[in-house]
Amino acid sequence: MGARSSKTLYSLAVLALAGLMVGTALAQAPASTPAQRAELGRHLFYDPLLSSDGTVACASCHQPQRAFTDGRATSLGAGGRAGVRSAPSLVNVGARTRLFWHGGSPSLELQALGPLSDHNEHDLSPGEVVARLRGSRYAPDFERLYGRPADLSALTDALAAFQRSIVSYQSPFDRYSAGDAGAMSEAAVRGLDLFYGKAECFHCHAGRNLSDNLPHNNALLLFNPDIGLASLTGHDSDVGKFITPTLRNVALTAPYMHAGQLQTLPEVVAHYNSGGEPNPNADPLIRPLNLTPQEEADLVAFLESLTDPAVATNPAWGRPHSVAGENP
Ligand code: HEC
Ligand code: HEC
Repeated sequence: MGARSSKTLYSLAVLALAGLMVGTALAQAPASTPAQRAELGRHLFYDPLLSSDGTVACASCHQPQRAFTDGRATSLGAGGRAGVRSAPSLVNVGARTRLFWHGGSPSLELQALGPLSDHNEHDLSPGEVVARLRGSRYAPDFERLYGRPADLSALTDALAAFQRSIVSYQSPFDRYSAGDAGAMSEAAVRGLDLFYGKAECFHCHAGRNLSDNLPHNNALLLFNPDIGLASLTGHDSDVGKFITPTLRNVALTAPYMHAGQLQTLPEVVAHYNSGGEPNPNADPLIRPLNLTPQEEADLVAFLESLTDPAVATNPAWGRPHSVAGENP
């Protein structure tokens, strides 16, 4: 299944359920705290109960030790079927204003319906999801936290609450920015100056999460059928535009770009230094940067300083003891 048809499936599922969900959510606001709902969401995030063949959980593709990515160029879902895009990091995902690589989903609540119904991911119909939840050991938790039997609205609320709790601003870069001059290596500090100076990365990788949440074409070779933002707008000028990803924990999230086209951070920096591949839609900021080999290495050292090791080990974000499976 190509990017286009699979994304159309996502959109249809989302549209069909949006009205229903909003209606239900308004009718019965949950009588519980976000922390309680996040804890239920954590269990559901790790539990393969929510997949057609019982092998796929959200955490199959969003693994804490890889900053909630999966280490693959493109993800593998139920039945081992391959998807067309790379799993993005979920660290600080609550701060993102547009989700998915092409920006096609506005909220974490709606987003979760995509992977649940996608044939290449969890591969379950909405009705099956609800039936499984109501017959599962989580049924009493839904009753207690939401005051009603499990439904899609409560499921996506709990998953979103968990994902919003994955907040990390504890990297060496954060400590350096807060005044701890020794937190970053000298090479990383030189790289920081390049990032915000000569290399001009900061225009798109802007703000605290190093993303402007906007679509750009960064001049990658177009070698797969994924047309990015153009799949939403139909404009030729949007072909190959994808939302700028966060760079937090980027040393843990290889391979890189929407389809894992680049393997390592030195390869990414070399791509930008070269000015990228010829592309009519490339952003004007993507042009030869004339960085020396030393400067390229410094930029890589800066990207490595964006890692918070606690993301992998924080028990509040890890696999619950009661959910079987290898700690992914
Ligand atoms: C088979 C692997 C796989 C599974 C399972 C999976 N995801 Fe994803 N996830 C992806 C891929 C690939 C993308 C990028 C999709 C796109 O951009 O079209 C993604 C995107 C996302 C995003 C958007 C992040 C961003 O910054 O744009 C969120 C949030 C997310 N997934 C949460 C979840 C949740 C919650 C579940 C469980 C219900 C889940 N995922 C299950 C692979 C997976
Ligand atoms: C014109 C905006 C723009 C500029 C300037 C820019 N980037 Fe990007 N960056 C993007 C976009 C968009 C993507 C995702 C592209 C895709 O997957 O098709 C990206 C992806 C990346 C990734 C991969 C992240 C991941 O999770 O896969 C890294 C690393 C990165 N950029 C680093 C840099 C560095 C370093 C610079 C400066 C040399 C830079 N970027 C300049 C827009 C930009």
